Amino acid sequence: MKVLVIGAGGREHALAWKLARSPRVTLVLVAPGNGGTARGSTGPSARIVNLDITDIAQLADYAAAHDVGLTVVGPEAPLAAGVVDLFRSRGLRIFGPAQAAAQLESSKDFAKRFMKRHGIPTAEYETFTDAAAAHAYVERRGAPIVIKADGLAAGKGVVVAQTTAEAHAAIDAMLVDNRLGGAGARVVIEDFLAGEEASFIVMSDGQHVLALASSQDHKRLLDGDRGPNTGGMGAYSPAPIVTPTVHARVLREIILPTVHGMAADGIEYTGFLYAGLMIDAEGNPRTLEFNCRLGDPETQPILLRLKSDLLELLEHAIDGRLDQVEAEWDRRTALGVVIAAAGYPDAPRKGDPVTALPADSDDCVIFHAGTQLVDGQLVTSGGRVFTVTALGDSVRAAQRRAYEAVAQVRFAGQQYRTDIGHRAIGRRAVNKTAPPRG
Ligand code: AMP
Ligand code: GLY
Repeated sequence: MKVLVIGAGGREHALAWKLARSPRVTLVLVAPGNGGTARGSTGPSARIVNLDITDIAQLADYAAAHDVGLTVVGPEAPLAAGVVDLFRSRGLRIFGPAQAAAQLESSKDFAKRFMKRHGIPTAEYETFTDAAAAHAYVERRGAPIVIKADGLAAGKGVVVAQTTAEAHAAIDAMLVDNRLGGAGARVVIEDFLAGEEASFIVMSDGQHVLALASSQDHKRLLDGDRGPNTGGMGAYSPAPIVTPTVHARVLREIILPTVHGMAADGIEYTGFLYAGLMIDAEGNPRTLEFNCRLGDPETQPILLRLKSDLLELLEHAIDGRLDQVEAEWDRRTALGVVIAAAGYPDAPRKGDPVTALPADSDDCVIFHAGTQLVDGQLVTSGGRVFTVTALGDSVRAAQRRAYEAVAQVRFAGQQYRTDIGHRAIGRRAVNKTAPPRG
């Protein structure tokens, strides 16, 4: 079967890499993909196709014309544009949420109203379009407090304000100065939640879910969780904070009520569902946000650990049979370190030649993101350039292996964190018993 992966990042390279290892997949097409797939590091049965991911009609035409048996969508933009609805209307098999369901990510106000209506644990909030009312609310609630643009804002839409002055400035930037355009024309203001974050991602067929392995991202640019927010500078799986008890509670209190609540509201949720969680000191999970897709870079370590055939899981999901399949995971930890370009996240520089890159091995794979093959030369073409992802018997071992490979990657201006996995390692040091696997 030919499969099509939509997207260009590290997440999509990992999806394509995993699908290329499926016995029944004859060809993986990645639109538009990146230099990794172009130069063959996805596998011999993968290639890139030059399509615009926002032109969903062109994507559907391509899938129909090239006998694509199944399409998987990586990023949120085509989902929010209705790519799943369009493919389905043309009888093309695709895994992802329909446009209405993708509102769980594309509108924070929609997600918050939904969670409130269905009793899904999340921070208290109110939504505003009027700046004066928003300012008054902040004065009533006090700081710390969190200001969120309603719409998709490419990771720039959330301000965790430590003081009311910061909160007022964020409100003015979004509602008065329109810094985020339409995405910030409405803001959600919610209570600050303390705790540790984790990413909990499942596949949903509309009724049943299959939980993927837990993971944890590192959103800040610099070591010690300092510096500006990014799309994610590294991730590992499993996340020890997601103990078996937390895992069971997340499924019972957040994931299943979400999938069943969407169905009850008449908006069946199919696709990957990503709950960004805050887990407090007592182990209570609350939802910070939903994404209607896999995480990037979480997908890279998750898929490196997946032993099952991804095509088979996707087919079960599309056919509504996720209750009849289980996913098998490598017991080891996988840890991915993002290497970003100079200037990331504000103004990433492009066009730096990649002068050294180690080969992939059984326990270490270099997933590409912002790379491009130009006349046979690999050059940087975006903010996050690689996710170097390795397996190890412990977080520390996976970390050591990943950083050995990171040290062999060379391009001008490269930046990466040196402490990916620090929370899991710190937790192990405090709590001597081995963390449960999830
Ligand atoms: P979001 O895009 O909603 O996940 O927010 C981006 C980041 O802001 C999260 O990963 C958290 O680190 C932080 N954040 C969001 N909402 C809250 C909250 N209610 N309390 C504390 N931190 C938050
Ligand atoms: N790594 C966070 C995200 O994909 O949204």
